[in-house]
Amino acid sequence: MNKDIARVMITEEELETLISRLAKEIDRDYADSGRRVLLLGILKGSVVFMGELMKKITIPVEIDFMKVSSYGSSTKSSGNINILLDLVRKDIDECDIIIVEDIIDSGRTLMYLVEYLLHKGANSVRTCTLLDKVSRREVDFQPDYVGKVIEDEFVVGYGLDYDEKYRTLPYIGVLSPEVYGSTGN
Ligand code: IMP
Ligand code: MG
Repeated sequence: MNKDIARVMITEEELETLISRLAKEIDRDYADSGRRVLLLGILKGSVVFMGELMKKITIPVEIDFMKVSSYGSSTKSSGNINILLDLVRKDIDECDIIIVEDIIDSGRTLMYLVEYLLHKGANSVRTCTLLDKVSRREVDFQPDYVGKVIEDEFVVGYGLDYDEKYRTLPYIGVLSPEVYGSTGN
């Protein structure tokens, strides 16, 4: 195991199981959409989850990506959302969008993005997150599809990073506090 990981929180096998469940839920709910179903991954954290999820969904879906940043320290988000890569398509009114996110913390990123995409004219917008730190919520936001609710610990791997590191780990691990404790974050 990586020396900076205190413990494995979610194994590869468990991730596989919970992503299969999410794909089934999406298959069920969007089978009769009649519109363009768009999986919208939020870069970069969602890439691994998105890749697994899209392989398991059996109904026809399109994929796209947005990139956002929220200013703050490396282990806390601030809620000031900046769009670094926008969704550009003329037929957004024909789209049922499912935002695919790695983890929800304060809830501000997804709350903002749902509003933003509805304002842009999307027919519908729902949210799918691999992980949810429910206890950290600062705004009244409830995702539609949740892989797993987790405790308030900083996790990395499976796309999630600390300072751009650990994204390639195949499991979700708890980062040793010593790794970020000394930086003051
Ligand atoms: P929110 O806007 O506060 O919900 O922030 C969500 C974003 O914060 C996620 O997309 C991640 O980029 C980041 N984040 C929150 N908690 C963690 C964590 O435990 N590990 C890695 N990134 C996290
Ligand atoms: Mg993120």
